[in-house]
Amino acid sequence: MNPYRSYRRLPSLAGVCSMADAMKPGLAVEQCVARLKRYHYAFKRLHHIFTARITAEPIYELKMGFSLHAHLCAEHVTALRKRVGEMREPPLGLGAIPHPALEVCFDEIVAAPGTEELLLGLYERALPALKASLEKHLADTNPLVDQPSVRLCRFALLELDDMLKFGAATIASLIDEPVRQKISGWLALLDDCLAAAGGLHGADSPIGKTITRQFSAKPYQYDGVPRRDERFPDPYNMGVNAEFFLYDPKFRPQPKTLMMFYKRLREIDVPEMMASILAETPDKPWDYYRDMTRQLWDEARHAMMGEVGFANLGIDWGRKVMVNFTWSLALNTQLKPIERHAVLYFIEQGLMPRNGKRFEWEVGQASQNPLAALFQDYDWADEVLHARFGRDWYLKEFADAKAAVQYGDKCWSRVLMGWAEWRAQGLTQHRNWWPDLYRKACAHWKIDPDPAVLGYATTYESVRADLKTISASA
Ligand SMILES: [Fe+2]
Ligand SMILES: [Fe+2]
Repeated sequence: MNPYRSYRRLPSLAGVCSMADAMKPGLAVEQCVARLKRYHYAFKRLHHIFTARITAEPIYELKMGFSLHAHLCAEHVTALRKRVGEMREPPLGLGAIPHPALEVCFDEIVAAPGTEELLLGLYERALPALKASLEKHLADTNPLVDQPSVRLCRFALLELDDMLKFGAATIASLIDEPVRQKISGWLALLDDCLAAAGGLHGADSPIGKTITRQFSAKPYQYDGVPRRDERFPDPYNMGVNAEFFLYDPKFRPQPKTLMMFYKRLREIDVPEMMASILAETPDKPWDYYRDMTRQLWDEARHAMMGEVGFANLGIDWGRKVMVNFTWSLALNTQLKPIERHAVLYFIEQGLMPRNGKRFEWEVGQASQNPLAALFQDYDWADEVLHARFGRDWYLKEFADAKAAVQYGDKCWSRVLMGWAEWRAQGLTQHRNWWPDLYRKACAHWKIDPDPAVLGYATTYESVRADLKTISASA
């Protein structure tokens, strides 16, 4: 028995671990770094997959989940980069592919042809392999000498568990046994890739397998055309101008909360658009991707605030609110990535003055809806952060701030929104869905509709130019 006793039975070693654990051989720095680089690679590839698959994924809940999971992965990438940098590692070599079979594994998942393959590849193969690797790190390393890595692994495991829970519930709802059977051959390929790489962590003996690419035989191409599920039956509808109503002083704050919930929910199009910038802008410093992904997630949160706002009023938004995708569709298909970023910057600049986010918060405060006030409070705070990201990553490309804003204005003016063409092509009738929504909300509020509010019928056709800086939400 080891005779070592702690002083006055106090916890030794700062409570990090037992004396026995602190005596185990653990991992050498070189082994530790080799593993950290693999987790880094996995989180980085996962970040890319979650981001790149937001736009064309039709199901709203999955867009939101992918936005969060992209953000979480980006945060862990950031932490791992920092940790590797602390481990006598310059040059860091964080761009290197740790094993070709790992590369195939993630290439296959990003190229998965449908939602089912994508979900099973992510939540039943890649994420569980990463979780097992981090658990193995905790088991193998000396917890005292490698405490900074241990801390990082524990935080990552916490969030990986959340992601896996979301994935398991999603798969249980969407994928039945016959579909799973159909995909089983491809899932076995992913298993083979992981085995050939010696596990995701690389600590096992590699098992020689012949790896033949399936979905990634043709290199993956990002799909920038947004898709939506059946709760978005009229995605070209620009029949209700939210901003024109919101900024009209003759209307009271209460009905304006509906327009703000609509504006928030419509922000689904911001992650759809930002995903395209991220997927099509290579070779930026890592912090660019980290910040932009944080913003992408914030915009998804803003959309969900709108969803909660309607749910709170007992309103079935899928039937009552025609949430369009015209902004992300137009930007993704008509502009280059830097031009989309310019438009985003231009719009966000317009949100900072008095008539922007502060105004929306004041409307929320003045309304009788505490949720509207709370949402706008945080929406405003988020927007201030986004303005900083804009300064850090967009503005710096320009010699002066005025030129940067003007370029955004120019790009935004160039975008064709096809209001009349879409109607001529039968894509939408720009139906005025407002009176129906307002009546439903009045029934919830137990008030009689105000005829002036009920009669609101301003579309985006005629007044877009007047309110061009605020006719989009970001
Ligand atoms: Fe937003
Ligand atoms: Fe924003």
